[in-house]
Amino acid sequence: MKKGIMRPGHVQIRVLDLDEAIKHYVDLLGLIETDRDAQGRVYLKGWTEVDKFSVVLREADTAGMDFMGFKCISEDVVDARREELLAFGCEVENIPEGELSGCGRRVRFTAPSGHAFELFATKEQPGKWGVGEKNPEAWPRGIKGMQAQRFDHCLLYGTNLDKTLDLFRDVLGFDLAEQVVTPDGTRVAQFLTASMKAHDVAFIDHPEPGKFHHASFFLETWESVLRAADLISMTDTSIDIGPTRHGLTHGSGDYHYPDHPPVTWDVDQLGKAIFYHDRVLNERFLSVLT
Ligand SMILES: [Fe+2]
Repeated sequence: MKKGIMRPGHVQIRVLDLDEAIKHYVDLLGLIETDRDAQGRVYLKGWTEVDKFSVVLREADTAGMDFMGFKCISEDVVDARREELLAFGCEVENIPEGELSGCGRRVRFTAPSGHAFELFATKEQPGKWGVGEKNPEAWPRGIKGMQAQRFDHCLLYGTNLDKTLDLFRDVLGFDLAEQVVTPDGTRVAQFLTASMKAHDVAFIDHPEPGKFHHASFFLETWESVLRAADLISMTDTSIDIGPTRHGLTHGSGDYHYPDHPPVTWDVDQLGKAIFYHDRVLNERFLSVLT
């Protein structure tokens, strides 16, 4: 069994208005600003994250995801996966240490889905914000808004789901934890994990490559989800749907071991799979993509 990729490490997101985006991610979600660089990019993290950053905001003319990075257990793992990515037929780019502030070298590649991903093993570790690693308090005071704890996963829309699964499973060592299939067996959604989490990255079949649906952040309890939704209303922020459970992944509360067979949903149950209580998909969830 191939292991060595630990978790989603970062996502670089293009935003149309940096100041508005900072209000959203810092004041509303409660992420912590940890740096800015010469390009004007802003670096953020959830307070429980040990690494320096997990979100990078870049102002641009179009919104979307520049790339998602996975953290590997060692530089040797990065090198080994790089060779296998080349053998798989991926174009691979070497990004030097320091291109992202406080991050070591990265290996970037494009998946058949059309999305750019990166592998890296080294990032500065200032520790959990406000509590540190020595005799830590339960939680830090002064966290804003939703008090998002950590970057959890991305949902991406794109092409070539089969080939993308081959790459993530055979080259990178992810497992297929959950899937949605049509009556003829075509997989139209796939939830992949490199860990015990229900998913670290998920893909929905889409005619256009490289589209971004969302990046998600972990909240500890249902109470904190309710409070987050309250804050969305207080700030008149647009919302796809109020607090609900997904059928898929038991609402992200499921866990995965490598010997678990994938959980399968029939496509005619998609409404329930996405919104377990409403049991129908709404237009906003389906159509708001960048
Ligand atoms: Fe999600």
